[in-house]
Amino acid sequence: MNTSWKVLITARGAQAAGEQAQELLRNAGCEIIFPPKFGALKGDELTAALSGMDAVLASLDGYSDNVLSSAAASRLKIIARWGVGYDSVDIAAATRNGIVVTYTPGLLDDAVADYTFALLLALARRVHEVHVTMQRGEWKNAWGDDIAGKTLGIIGLGRIGKAVARRASGFNMRVFAHTAHPDAANKSVEFVSLEKLLGESDFVSLHAALTPATRGMIGEAQLRQMKRTAYLINTGRGALLDEIALVRALKGNSIAGAALDVFITEPLPADSTLRSAPNLLLSPHQSSYARGTGERVSLSAAQAIVDLLHGKKPQNVLNPEVFDSSQLRAALNP
Ligand code: DGY
Repeated sequence: MNTSWKVLITARGAQAAGEQAQELLRNAGCEIIFPPKFGALKGDELTAALSGMDAVLASLDGYSDNVLSSAAASRLKIIARWGVGYDSVDIAAATRNGIVVTYTPGLLDDAVADYTFALLLALARRVHEVHVTMQRGEWKNAWGDDIAGKTLGIIGLGRIGKAVARRASGFNMRVFAHTAHPDAANKSVEFVSLEKLLGESDFVSLHAALTPATRGMIGEAQLRQMKRTAYLINTGRGALLDEIALVRALKGNSIAGAALDVFITEPLPADSTLRSAPNLLLSPHQSSYARGTGERVSLSAAQAIVDLLHGKKPQNVLNPEVFDSSQLRAALNP
């Protein structure tokens, strides 16, 4: 059995809300290493950080084929994603290199759905705008839009999309959903085409996984199909949306407003045109940053690392075929 693994923690959540996770790793004899800066690492920066590491409790770092096949990453046995999205990991390359990839499904659905609703409510009722005017010493009301009785269109009805739908029904909203796999048995939403969803929803919320098929799925043409009074919310992935087209739509008042928690480039560059676009509420990819959720997600990712260290197959493996490969770098119990 291995007694000591070096574990790189790039996930900011596992530092700020990862006390139990870090304890679990240390008790298992692991040495924890934090990178010089938090936030998704990419390219040479990530390759350098992986040097000598056995495991990584991972943010949205760019685990490309180049990175995973590099000599620096030759000791890496597991990438344990802090979260549910794994679009930043080349799973096939990980498998070829004998690296196990895990994620933490089901643990952050409510936190992300709550945050999505927080953005929706703030946007429609202009909470963020009056907060700023109050801080400036003013007393000025801002008229917003009703929410009850309105239609919410959910694009991507996985676990998080469904959690958003549950909240919407509590707000007496009509709920449309557009998804690659509509489930006729699910009567809590109306499955509709993308065209109908965009054309008739008062709020459109993006929850699709980022894949080659969904990348850029909301572009100029789709924004034009939305009602002028409608709002767009994105807590999924930045690249689902054409950001330049969104800025144009907001400037031209062709939609009422938008809220973004995710971006094509993160951190969002200081000079991004999104920062000054009108009627746009911005936040720094923090929909899953609720303390209890953060602790649970961190612990689950750390448990996957400790399980593999102890020769056990972890739960929530994205590439189970790696266990049948002669390239598998971790030693499993017989
Ligand atoms: C996820 O779960 O993928 C979130 O974006 C946090 O990384």
